[in-house]
Amino acid sequence: MNNFLTVKSAARLRGEITVPGDKSISHRSIIFNAIAEGTAHVTNFLPGEDCLSSIACMRAMGVNIELSESKREVTIAGRGLRGLQEPAEILDAGNSGTTTRLLTGLLAGQSFYSIITGDSSLRSRPMGRVIGPLKQMGAQIWGRKNDTLAPLSIKGDANNSIKAISYNLPVASAQLKSCLLLAALYAEGETVLGGLIASRDHTERMLGAMGAPLETNRERLIMHGPATTLRALNVAVPGDISSAAFWLVAAVAHPDADLLLKNVGVNPTRTGLIDALQEMGADIELSDEREIVGEPVADIRVKSSRLVGTGIGGEIIPRLVDEIPALAVAAMFGQNRTVVRDAAELRVKETDRIATIASEFGKLGANIETQPDGLVISGRQHLHGNSVHSHGDHRLAMSLAIAGLLLPPGEELAIEDYACADVSYPGFWDDLKRVSQ
Ligand code: S3P
Repeated sequence: MNNFLTVKSAARLRGEITVPGDKSISHRSIIFNAIAEGTAHVTNFLPGEDCLSSIACMRAMGVNIELSESKREVTIAGRGLRGLQEPAEILDAGNSGTTTRLLTGLLAGQSFYSIITGDSSLRSRPMGRVIGPLKQMGAQIWGRKNDTLAPLSIKGDANNSIKAISYNLPVASAQLKSCLLLAALYAEGETVLGGLIASRDHTERMLGAMGAPLETNRERLIMHGPATTLRALNVAVPGDISSAAFWLVAAVAHPDADLLLKNVGVNPTRTGLIDALQEMGADIELSDEREIVGEPVADIRVKSSRLVGTGIGGEIIPRLVDEIPALAVAAMFGQNRTVVRDAAELRVKETDRIATIASEFGKLGANIETQPDGLVISGRQHLHGNSVHSHGDHRLAMSLAIAGLLLPPGEELAIEDYACADVSYPGFWDDLKRVSQ
């Protein structure tokens, strides 16, 4: 069946990989430049399906966006903070939570009516967390199931009457934080965000560089609204550490591996996986550390390592939340068990990742116990080949593929619905072939 792809155990992992552009930064480079003054050029844009959904939505609101043939270079003609047009169609965010939540905040500040929705996975993801505070700001928003699920409809009013609020984030979600900062650009007065604001900070960095009236410190973010203008910003998108994650894990868990990952974003709000793997004994070395358009970037050398299980929870979770499916693979090859806790957010990602990690790796012989907010993963697992299912979850598909490379010699696994890897890592299967020898 062509919906399956087979991954064979690899004898050696060698080579250099340049992972594609960062998904979070790619989304923001489009959405923020669309409401800036002037024209911006984005290089190393991630042409994954999620980011293309952000482009389609902004085009539907009248923004002229040109993509190069490779789709890795983008030119955005900013329309200014008040230049978007009412979309004639329902906005389709596809599989992308980032598109949906960021745009909901942006749309709350517009003077027109819009509806946003996406695929069945997206329509089951929690939207009440953004609708609640946006309503406190005076936005008129409705959603299914008592205003908790998409499709969402948003009715702006001609006077842009969004009000500033003080709000403590109850979840460490960068999508929620960014949604509220975008609405706050249009709100009269100081919007003060406190609580769980320690999540990826690409929005703060990029809006700050564009001249937004945003004050940041460890405890609070303050937007002095309304913003009068944002300056267009050329962005060179760093490689996505969430995509590098698969190679970091494959190399540390493989007995004969040496990989060089080039041009990877190493923003400290994103490097929890490196810290966790190093704590487990991983041989990971950063070199040529530099800063590109306000984001730290480095090359990363990673080699076979002797891993020991660890406990992962608390403040590190938002710094590696997307990498837990990959980290689970490393844990299976460590000595002793690894316990992941405080990660209930995994239940509301593209799939319920606590459930899907346990069920799919279980098919390979892994012993993984689920908890309401995490996983207990036994180490030193004797895995075997089998048929597994991605459930349409890109990060699960790629984590399963990595486990395939690590199977005992001669074993292989077949991944059903493997093509969803394109959501965040177009070219993943080519890179996998190239480095496994
Ligand atoms: C993202 C934030 C995270 C992350 C997602 C991308 C972003 O989601 O899981 O892949 O770009 O802001 P949450 O904000 O829901 O934690």
